[in-house]
Amino acid sequence: MQERIRNFSIIAHVDHGKSTLADRILQMTKAVSEREMREQFLDSLELERERGITIKASAVRLFYEASDGQTYTFNLIDTPGHVDFGYEVSRALAAVEGVLLVVDASQGVEAQTIANFYLALEHEHTIIPVVNKIDLPSARPEEVALEIEEVLGLPAEEVVFASGKTGQGVEDILEAIVHRVPAPKGKPTDPTKALIFDSIYDAYQGVIPYVRVFEGSIRPGDRIRVWSNNKEFQVDRVGVFRPGSLEPTGGLGPGEVGWLTANIREIGDTQVGDTITLAPNPTDAAYPGFKPAKPVVFAGIYPTDTQDYNRLRDALEKLKLNDAALDFEPETSEALGFGFRCGFLGLLHAEIVQERLEREFDLDLIATAPSVIYRVMRSDGSIEEVHNPSMMPDPGTIEVMEEPYVRLTVYTPEEYVGPIMQLLQEKRGRMEQMNYLGGTGGSKRVELRYEVPFGEILYDFHDRLKSLSRGYASMDYEQAGYREGDLVKVTVLVNDEPVDALAFITHRDKAYSIARSMVDKLAEVIPRQQFAVPVQAAIGGKIIARATVKALRKDVLAKCYGGDVSRKKKLLEKQKEGKKRLKSIGKVDVPQEAFLAVLSAG
Ligand code: GTP
Repeated sequence: MQERIRNFSIIAHVDHGKSTLADRILQMTKAVSEREMREQFLDSLELERERGITIKASAVRLFYEASDGQTYTFNLIDTPGHVDFGYEVSRALAAVEGVLLVVDASQGVEAQTIANFYLALEHEHTIIPVVNKIDLPSARPEEVALEIEEVLGLPAEEVVFASGKTGQGVEDILEAIVHRVPAPKGKPTDPTKALIFDSIYDAYQGVIPYVRVFEGSIRPGDRIRVWSNNKEFQVDRVGVFRPGSLEPTGGLGPGEVGWLTANIREIGDTQVGDTITLAPNPTDAAYPGFKPAKPVVFAGIYPTDTQDYNRLRDALEKLKLNDAALDFEPETSEALGFGFRCGFLGLLHAEIVQERLEREFDLDLIATAPSVIYRVMRSDGSIEEVHNPSMMPDPGTIEVMEEPYVRLTVYTPEEYVGPIMQLLQEKRGRMEQMNYLGGTGGSKRVELRYEVPFGEILYDFHDRLKSLSRGYASMDYEQAGYREGDLVKVTVLVNDEPVDALAFITHRDKAYSIARSMVDKLAEVIPRQQFAVPVQAAIGGKIIARATVKALRKDVLAKCYGGDVSRKKKLLEKQKEGKKRLKSIGKVDVPQEAFLAVLSAG
């Protein structure tokens, strides 16, 4: 029954307890038995469990017997909370009618609370504010409810108080979903219109798009058409999401959330955000596409073993299907050979992609340091985007160079404002606004708005902000266009050979200090060779920093000469293990760490 369907998402600042609450909801709707229940059920990627964060949005269908005696069908679409994954959030939100906005009762409103709130507002969704973790001794539920009213304009009396941990108040949340979130609209008799909000690849069944049906229906045997490319497929099976499995059903009607298989073999044929309709009776308008993800950070990814190039391409294609924000194209590096330049939403996204490629596709990879996109105006009037520092044109041909800026918002308790402003100054930030947000007693909160070069906050900014504020400050940012900057390319030479994959672009004023710590770091991480290896940094032809990797004194095996064979074998094996992630550049073996040295040099 369509009027008893409720589609909703949970949105929250990172660590405010979204996954724990989702688990509790699963348990209370008896979707999983106590035995099956393991912590953070929806975080099914191995990596998500290990890191304790939600990366991918996943969906599940639940049944809830409400106090009115009726059984409701809930489709819960989980979303990630980290600033890098805003795109996944907007994808999930396109498929629902309501959201639970979860706020930690001891932390209060934070940067992503606000960012996610505005995303939900843009979709005109019903928003149910939830003050969570009320079991914590440090919880200030009433205060946080007032803060929600003050900062977001949601009436404090609409707030539901709960604890995902103890289960207290979770029943109230479920009732609020029933009573406040509207049933989906859409007629079963209208031409079919379904939104692809995610998809996975299965070796046997091909691409499995995850869809939200808005109008009409999809059944096995239907001939579907993909809106953007007019490709047609015969539907094989359709179904819904049950915890841990894809359950086949007879069809999906308006308001329903589910999946389909149709022997779709080409990964590019069904893009996330596209609309599916039926070929015999197509809809006349696609679902208004949600904001496409735009990668803003680029890095090279190369197989350590050049033979793995095709496997890497295959893996990237499959991963992209599941991660629409990922972008890649082939690139070659003198130092690293054939690989791909990949675009990401941020640094965490880049790290996660590399880890997923290595784990899920069993690849050994070398990644270069992520870089932002610079813009170059040439003397001949042409404009060029530089995605890879080593491709920066000759400075002599450059008229103006521009770097991307972001509008950064930091929320912090008042006491940390001083050190945070100092950090932002060091990062070449320009203050736009400073607002006092209220709060009581010692918990007065301040909102700082800055414009700052994106490249400056890319690496260590978030960590430093957290440590400066003992974890209390939070941040959010959006792209703010390009501004002129006095930028230089720093080339790095190992054993007198320039290594293209180590080049980076930075502001002239910072080039010396970054180059200095970069060469020191390289000298530390490059293993000693039989000969001394000079490591240098240069701007143009001018060397600005140097360090040396000292020569090896002794042969590793010399120690065991004539000794125990098994020990010798072990030692050699250990060396081989260590080599896995080394890349030979000229005569020097360079480890993965070296390619990321610039990250810790900022
Ligand atoms: P992401 O998935 O990374 O966005 O985080 P999340 O918002 O899902 O947070 P998660 O559920 O992983 O919880 C974060 C931390 O808070 C964990 O250590 C939980 O054990 C703890 N936590 C979650 N809910 C509660 C609660 O109601 N009470 C208490 N005391 N702790 C909680």
